[in-house]
Amino acid sequence: MVLHESDLSQKAATNSLPLQDAFAVLFFVSVGMLFDPSILVREPLMVAAVLLLIVIGKSLVALGIVLALGYPLSTALTVSASLAQIGEFSFILAGLGITYDLMEKEGLNLVLAGALFSITLNPLTFAAVDRLIRRVQSNPQLKRQFEEARVTHFARLKHDLDSTREQAAKRAAAHKTFTPEELVDRFPLFEGLSPEQREVLVLHFETRTAQPGERIIRAGDKADTVYFVVDGQVEVAVGNRRIKLGAGDFFGEMALISGLPRAADVTALDYSKFAILSRRDFRQFLTRYPAIRDRIAALASKRREMNRHLASENA
Ligand code: CMP
Repeated sequence: MVLHESDLSQKAATNSLPLQDAFAVLFFVSVGMLFDPSILVREPLMVAAVLLLIVIGKSLVALGIVLALGYPLSTALTVSASLAQIGEFSFILAGLGITYDLMEKEGLNLVLAGALFSITLNPLTFAAVDRLIRRVQSNPQLKRQFEEARVTHFARLKHDLDSTREQAAKRAAAHKTFTPEELVDRFPLFEGLSPEQREVLVLHFETRTAQPGERIIRAGDKADTVYFVVDGQVEVAVGNRRIKLGAGDFFGEMALISGLPRAADVTALDYSKFAILSRRDFRQFLTRYPAIRDRIAALASKRREMNRHLASENA
């Protein structure tokens, strides 16, 4: 759920696939070690009752809920087949039940037997559901009802999906300054980053624009942003000197690195566009990529040195 919030959730899900396999193995080994097979001889009827409750009872409840929510029969049947089993949550609940004296130890063995058998039977449940769906479709009257429900449901789903896509595209457009490939063309500083690292960096950028004459940074202010010039030109005022920076340059890094107030005024000379990073993102970025941090820090100290020189000239 946490990963799902991220823009990179798809990638994270793919990268974590090997972990899923490891957890699946761990799950089955631990169930096997907890299970006491003698329960099958001691309480065969109880095991059968628990299994029926899981495979039939639980699925019927799921079927009813999905149908009541207005989904077509095929969806309801597929959902109930998926839920015709129990897993690790039931072990946790059974464990808690035993701790609080609400359940006897034997209960855990029944739950484990239920889990093992219901998981084993699950492919058969799916096969049975497939046959049931096919039979429903071969009956013209049932098929009509089924198709109608499906058509309206799909139309609704498609509409939801389209509007979600539209929102995502708007968000991406508002967020995006340039593509990860363009990043290096514009800012050779980021050459050493891998394609994935570029992608992450681009997602952290936000766009800001400025009109000619607009002051972007005021000397002495507290710093919260670093600016990468995408388009246009700005002027840095240090004493009487005016230093011009254009596309591919960056500014606002000195105060973020040193923690001191802004060292100079920066004013836009043209209609300018910047990719900006917040203080937090910039700091994280520098920590993660020491080689780039060194290059930025070197330029910052060169600028500081130049300003010191200019100040002593003026004095
Ligand atoms: P910062 O001090 O955060 O805010 C003002 C910015 O102007 C500063 O960071 C630098 O990015 C930039 N700057 C200051 N001095 C110079 C200089 N001598 N040459 C180029 N840029 C400078």
